[in-house]
Amino acid sequence: MRVLGIESSCDETAAAVVEDGRVVLSDVVRSQVDIHRRFGGPVPEIASRSHLEVIVPVVQEALERAGLAAADVDAVAVTHRPGLIGALLVGVATAKALALALDKPIVGIDHLAAHIYASWMDSDDPPTPPFVALVVSGGHTSLFRLDDPFQPHEIGSTADDAAGEAFDKVAAILGLGYPGGPVIDRVAKGGRTRRFPFKPPLLTRDGLDFSFSGLKTAVLYRVTGKNSRHEPVPLTEENVRDVAASFQEAVVEGLAQAAFRAVERSGAEDLVVGGGCAANSRLRQRFTTEAAQRGVRLFLPTVARSTDNAVMIAGLAYHRLNEHGPDDLTLDAIPTGR
Ligand code: KG4
Ligand code: ZN
Repeated sequence: MRVLGIESSCDETAAAVVEDGRVVLSDVVRSQVDIHRRFGGPVPEIASRSHLEVIVPVVQEALERAGLAAADVDAVAVTHRPGLIGALLVGVATAKALALALDKPIVGIDHLAAHIYASWMDSDDPPTPPFVALVVSGGHTSLFRLDDPFQPHEIGSTADDAAGEAFDKVAAILGLGYPGGPVIDRVAKGGRTRRFPFKPPLLTRDGLDFSFSGLKTAVLYRVTGKNSRHEPVPLTEENVRDVAASFQEAVVEGLAQAAFRAVERSGAEDLVVGGGCAANSRLRQRFTTEAAQRGVRLFLPTVARSTDNAVMIAGLAYHRLNEHGPDDLTLDAIPTGR
């Protein structure tokens, strides 16, 4: 079964064709990062307009690269939640138009379930339920328990910003530009993680929920000296490296503490990490080490499959179609999702 997948929930317009949930026939991602850079983050209305401009060529390119005509696909899948409403609507309307014109089934996909699937879709030995998943991205930071590998049940989330948003804001404070995740990852290498002991971004010491706004403010106050018993920290190369490394360490520490706590509480043996921040090299290192110590199997996406793509949408759709059947043309775009 060949599924055409469409993704437009945030600032990437993507389309892909995937066969039987696994075999990638094409994978096209058009990022809007350059458009949103000067605003320091995605601007919803601009995102919707940009999706509208490129979505048809992106879908065409995905079909061409797969060597298929539109009529050759067996189903059309689309991210319909959660995300920016205007951005989601562009993908959902495109998918409905294609499904109607081609007389093919349509299936709506949960973006977060797809991020989780992206982390293990290439594995010959998938995670065994119940397992735990952590999705960390620019828009989301949540922990899930999965009793069914395709149906995440949320057990923890952020009370305010997402982890990726915190990376983006701290990068702005340090004058490092946008998007912040990749640049902090790079700059933090060789930085001293203990020079600025920021607290891990956990809402309570023993819970599964996060809060990133306090950490972001702590970095701001530490750097500017505002409301602080410390002197300001001039943004020299060395200081920026140390602040970035200390901030990143606090984020990764908080994420790891909550994720492994969730694994323990769920009696799970497998842990899946997905989303844009799963590309972070310190996160990958920290999770790999602790998983090995605890005898937990860890599933990490490749760096390319960490950030938004349509392969994960088309791939997961195969399983949803098999288990639940298709949706219909009343399919709605839902910004909140759960
Ligand atoms: O999954 P994604 O593409 O979009 C959402 O669903 O939000 O994630 C994008 C986020 C951005 O905030 C970006 O800064 C972050 O992922 N990111 C990283 C890294 N690469 C991307 N964060 C930390 N370290 C990285 N290497
Ligand atoms: Zn995402």
